[in-house]
Formats: sequence, structure tokens, C-alpha cells
Amino acid sequence: MTEPSEIGGAGEGVDWDGLRIRARAIAERAYAPYSGYRVGAAALVDDGRTVAGCNVENAAYGVGLCAECGLVSELLAGGGGRLVAFTCTNGAGERIMPCGRCRQLLWEHGGPGLLVDTPEGILAMHQVLPQAFGPDNLAR
Ligand code: THU
Repeated sequence: MTEPSEIGGAGEGVDWDGLRIRARAIAERAYAPYSGYRVGAAALVDDGRTVAGCNVENAAYGVGLCAECGLVSELLAGGGGRLVAFTCTNGAGERIMPCGRCRQLLWEHGGPGLLVDTPEGILAMHQVLPQAFGPDNLAR
């Protein structure tokens, strides 16, 4: 479904529905026996690839991996590149926001201009992680 925030605004030209379908599909493969909360994430890369990931929990609860970890792993394993558009869904198909730690992960590989599919429409990464700490800080 095209949303008002996608018409003539940020994210124009991105196949958001395709990304959401990919996220929903991979959420079904999540390993979430402890929380019962499946998550799927999908993103468009600047070379046209699509990468995705699901959450992978562990009996040692703190070891669990968010869906975004798998997505970033696929990004790098597939040759790298920059993330340009990102979406995340739970097992019920609801759009969800990446957790704070994963916003930091996404910042590293997409930067301030990465478009994020939020429940309030398409927002840029700098809006969902303002005043971020990132690689530029280390370069100074
Ligand atoms: N989860 C993600 O995979 N990504 C997020 O951004 C939010 C949380 C997962 C972690 C855990 O397996 C489950 O959701 C419940 O917190």
C-alpha cells in the first residue's frame, strides 16, 4: 500500500511493498522460542541488492541476535555496500522500529540518509537516531 509519506517524498522509487514482503517472509524463519516474538528485517542496498535477516535467540538470553544483525551480516557477506532503505516487521506483520542498538548498527552501514519505514511513515535515519555517534567521531 502506498502511504501519503511516500508520495513525492523521501523514499520515492523504493519498492517498499517488496521490502515489506521480504521482511514478513524472513520473520517466519526467526528462531524465537524464548520470547515468542518473531522479527524480520529487509533493506535495499545502493547497488540494487536486497538483504534481510531474522532474530535468532539463545538459551543464554543475552546472546540473542536481533534481525538487523543477520541483515548486516548478509550485507557484508554479499560484498558490502550502503543501506538505502530499511523496513522491519514482527510476526504479526506489524511494522516495528529497530531497537536502540540496531539503530546504531544501521547508522554504521547506512548513515544519516538511510530511509526507515516507521509506523509514522518514511523517516531518515538522522530523525530516528538524532545526534548519533558514528565513524566520523573517531576520525576527528
Ligand atoms: N528484536 C529484533 O530482532 N530487532 C529489533 O530491533 C527489536 C527486537 C528481537 C530481539 C528478540 O529476539 C525479540 O525481538 C524480543 O525482544
